[in-house]
Amino acid sequence: MSLVATGLVKHYPVRGSDSVVHALDDVSLELAPGETLGIVGESGCGKSTLAKVLVRLEEPTSGTVVLDGVDLTALSGAELRRQRRRIQMVFQDPYSSLNPRKSVGSALEEVLIVHGFGSSAAERRSRVRELLELVGLSPTFAARLPHELSGGQRQRVGIARALAVEPSVLILDEPVSALDVSVRAEVMNLLSGLQKTLGLSFIFISHDVSMVRQISDRVAVMYLGRIVELGGWKPVLDEPLHPYTEGLRASVPVPDPTVHQAIQATVRGEVPNPVNPPAGCRFHPRCPAAVDACLTVMPQLTEVHPQHEVACHVAVAEGHLPLRAITS
Ligand SMILES: Nc1ncnc2c1ncn2[C@@H]1O[C@H](COP(=O)(O)OP(=O)(O)O)[C@@H](O)[C@H]1O
Ligand SMILES: [Mg+2]
Repeated sequence: MSLVATGLVKHYPVRGSDSVVHALDDVSLELAPGETLGIVGESGCGKSTLAKVLVRLEEPTSGTVVLDGVDLTALSGAELRRQRRRIQMVFQDPYSSLNPRKSVGSALEEVLIVHGFGSSAAERRSRVRELLELVGLSPTFAARLPHELSGGQRQRVGIARALAVEPSVLILDEPVSALDVSVRAEVMNLLSGLQKTLGLSFIFISHDVSMVRQISDRVAVMYLGRIVELGGWKPVLDEPLHPYTEGLRASVPVPDPTVHQAIQATVRGEVPNPVNPPAGCRFHPRCPAAVDACLTVMPQLTEVHPQHEVACHVAVAEGHLPLRAITS
């Protein structure tokens, strides 16, 4: 498995105007086999947009997503369906994507039918039992309706549904954020176990630094549609180079990811409107370290330490890189 996203841009039109929401601006990333890349950032920074573009639930404005040499962004129709099977998404709230009148078993069977798995009803039913067991649910859950399940059980069904089509990559968008704190650890453990036994690669998205820290090999920090820092989880989260990462890890996330979290403790002000993002570094109006260049020159991700990249003029300058890297 190799997943390479290059230059992903997603601009949503704003109704009744010529402006666009800069949900995603020039995001590139790579995912290695068996790896977990964590994506962290405040609400509204473009995490879910990135997830949807990666699985092609949303068409990117530009950029490419290449999975094992196949450019998913260039596909359509049957070929897209065939390839898309290999990269599946788990949503924050599986309830909203489960038909309330359909049993868990028939929902899973339907996925198998749509993707041509299992040649007979008996075979599909046995696969459903297997999938339920894989996510730690007894086969009797096949007969249950979504409203009869707890949040944790529902998320297990959401994971089973993603696994039904035997993907190699899971995009997990805030998979435990809606769950009670008491069941979060169980679902996190389930995910780690599945990753090992099935050899899956994960993109794990959360607004909560502590969740990302738990599961990630590498971490990408997003701010207003861009990756501002990227590297191993430990250097990024314990010795961050970007002032935003520093503020984010010092913040206490609120349980509801739709509410802007309070990073104001260390970083002043609110996240600016993505319809009209600031010039230069998008973080400069809130940055305690901003210098003149930050107001006009957009910083690019630059490797300051081996495999630790940051998009920050100040951090790059302090890393003793040539000035060329700062202004080009
Ligand atoms: N379908 C859409 N139409 C217009 N704007 C959108 C749409 N989806 C998301 N956005 C905007 O794009 C930005 C990024 O949203 P999102 O990707 O959901 O962020 P996150 O998941 O990090 O909270 C936000 O400003 C959001 O309001
Ligand atoms: Mg989101």
